[in-house]
Amino acid sequence: MTTKPCTICRGRVQEFHDFGMQPLSDAFRRPGDESQEYLFRLAVGMCLDCTMVQLMEEVDRDKMFHESYPFISGGSAGMRAHFEGVATRFLENTTGRGDDFVVELGSNDGTMLSHLADAGMHHLGVEPSAGVARLAVEKGVRVLGDFFEEESAVRIRGEHGPATVIYAANTLCHIPYLDSVFAGVDELLAPDGIMVFEDPYFGDIVEKTSFDQIYDEHFYLFSARSVQELARRHGLELVDVERLPVHGGEVRYTLARAGAREVSDAVTVMIAAEERSGLTEPATLEAFSLRVSDIRRDLVAALTDLRAQGLSVVGYGATAKSATVLNMCGIGPDLIPRIFDNTPAKQGLLTPGSRIPVVDSADFPDPYPDVAVLFAWNHAREITARETGFLDAGGRWLLYVPRVHEM
Ligand code: SAM
Ligand code: TMP
Ligand code: ZN
Repeated sequence: MTTKPCTICRGRVQEFHDFGMQPLSDAFRRPGDESQEYLFRLAVGMCLDCTMVQLMEEVDRDKMFHESYPFISGGSAGMRAHFEGVATRFLENTTGRGDDFVVELGSNDGTMLSHLADAGMHHLGVEPSAGVARLAVEKGVRVLGDFFEEESAVRIRGEHGPATVIYAANTLCHIPYLDSVFAGVDELLAPDGIMVFEDPYFGDIVEKTSFDQIYDEHFYLFSARSVQELARRHGLELVDVERLPVHGGEVRYTLARAGAREVSDAVTVMIAAEERSGLTEPATLEAFSLRVSDIRRDLVAALTDLRAQGLSVVGYGATAKSATVLNMCGIGPDLIPRIFDNTPAKQGLLTPGSRIPVVDSADFPDPYPDVAVLFAWNHAREITARETGFLDAGGRWLLYVPRVHEM
């Protein structure tokens, strides 16, 4: 296990799990494309100084976020409802002075901002992936097609003035260069403005052994303690935290300029709970790593056994998370011949590394398989509620988080 300098504080990051060589999690491939796939070593460590959990190797951002970035926020009814709730909060709780300006980093297909656009609120999405950004523009959302960082923040400030709210969902954890992002926040944020971001919570990842949250795009796995330290280093303060049930467990962090807002008790409570649970202790991280290895062994054994029984097995949800699982376990079309997914941009392509065909989830019942591995386990309620016919037909859902089991 190696070490590297922390991208937040330059302290020493100690690796605690190595997933081996992995492809880009969203680099779905055309059938017949035999070109060499880009691979990198996916390994994760924790900074011994500021406790920030981070990948040991960084992938160039242009390789991940580009014209054909396939993930869309609006692909889940649950997430559409979640983002409508976020927008409602912004519409109800901003200053009401009429000069509110909400900026969303990683606005993707405009699922959240379209509500602000419809309400006539001054807003801007910042989104480097041009394909998904166009979907937002079609919804009437104003989008800057760029990466958010210091330089683009200066331009936004010059053109639009200060932001009352800077919001980011499942985006900040994707950005290794947070020093530049926070220099940009300092440029753009109004004196009494807030920065709100929500990302997968490291506490949930350890508690649920949801190791598949670790992939190229998820460079950081935040905790309240590490975010508090991150904010402090940039003249900001963590003033509120809120646990969210989405994507397998997230935390919404609210930052304000240091001293500008009262700090909620929730911050102290969450940091104390992290301390009590030993979240940053080496023994906790070692135990996590061992549980990941157990899941790999059990999942491969379960799939091999199902195949030996002659049962038909498929995957459900060609998630970015599934790339970590499939490639770590060496699972290919021999064990899982296809994966169903509702994203048009993924259908007809092969999963990265594992090369499993992705097919339209509308065809799932045609005929139902015996067993479906639920790679989109974070959307379990939504998917199982829709696919009730699968259980009626005798089908079985197989999950691997928090351990290999049937639902
Ligand atoms: N916010 C949406 C959601 O929660 O569903 C989309 C999340 S998606 C996983 C991450 C998005 O962040 C991608 O659309 C990507 O293009 C964008 N992104 C990556 N780096 C960025 C940066 N520096 N500034 C703004 N957006 C960025
Ligand atoms: P995510 O876990 O990153 O949100 O990705 C979810 C994937 O699962 C995405 O490719 C869309 C797919 N999906 C379906 O195929 N059907 C569904 O009902 C839902 C909610 C997601
Ligand atoms: Zn550090």
